[in-house]
Amino acid sequence: MGEPHNHRTRRRAPGRAGAIAAAGLLLSGCETPRALDPGGPAAGFIAGLWWFMFWISAVIFLAVMIFLGAALLRRRRTRRQPDDGRVRGVVVVGGVVVPTVVVVALMVYTIYGMATIDDPPGPTPLVVNVTSHMWWWDVEYPQYGIRTANQIHIPTGQPVLIQLVSDDVIHSFWVPQLHGKRDMVPGHLASTWLQADDAGAYRGQCAEFCGLQHAHMLFLVVAEPPQQFNGWVERQVARRQQPTSGPLFRGQQIFLGSECVYCHTIRGTPATGTFGPDLSDIGARAELGAGTLPNNRGSLAGWIIDPQPLKPGNRMPPVPMSSQDLQLMLLYLESLQ
Ligand code: CUA
Repeated sequence: MGEPHNHRTRRRAPGRAGAIAAAGLLLSGCETPRALDPGGPAAGFIAGLWWFMFWISAVIFLAVMIFLGAALLRRRRTRRQPDDGRVRGVVVVGGVVVPTVVVVALMVYTIYGMATIDDPPGPTPLVVNVTSHMWWWDVEYPQYGIRTANQIHIPTGQPVLIQLVSDDVIHSFWVPQLHGKRDMVPGHLASTWLQADDAGAYRGQCAEFCGLQHAHMLFLVVAEPPQQFNGWVERQVARRQQPTSGPLFRGQQIFLGSECVYCHTIRGTPATGTFGPDLSDIGARAELGAGTLPNNRGSLAGWIIDPQPLKPGNRMPPVPMSSQDLQLMLLYLESLQ
């Protein structure tokens, strides 16, 4: 899988941006969830079931078309009354026996699949808590005290338990290449598991309409070999070397002096807001606004100054500031890896 954000188009006028995004969606396979290109055992099973249903449907469709063609041709050739016994036989076989066999086979396959992939295939030493908000994902690693947003780092080759809870309305957690959908109903704990066999970035998407920015409620699952994943955990736990001088320090002071701190947390600083996404590793994320924009200096600057044109209806107000302050704050935020 390529880097998804490479395929995004730069924002221009709001009206045009929509058209460009739609064109990009059509042109770029990377932007569409690829449930039929499974990256793990659960999605592999689901894809197998899908193809099974597809081929059965294709054969039935073909058979119906052949019978229809034959019937139309026959009618023209002969005016003879059809044989009642033969008609009854065709109706019983085509209308009762075949559908029953097909539906029962599909039901057995589906029930077997539900029983097979509902539970992880082995122990899940790693647990990740995911909380859905309108319209972003809070991601917490309770074992390590790590918190991030809109991206889930997992090690490859092992099932990871994902515990799900919604903070507001019904959302649905879906990583098409790794597993099926799991609804997130407020007040109801749910769980699923993800296993990626190969390293890569897997697109996740909210799969239940949840308001204005439902389509911009994306996330990335970043799967890495266990050793690299452990390195990521160690860096997240160990860092928080906050700057004490220079432009980064000045940028940090501007951040801490702004209203940003009421909603955002940066570990190791007095900023402990929880209303918005944790920004402790904002500089290392591929995307901004839950998959709305690629994370680069231009989009980050635009997002801070006024995120509303970029993702209308999101809960972040504009944060006006001088361009000099903004540059320093961008430097600081980009340094948070
Ligand atoms: Cu959250 Cu749709």
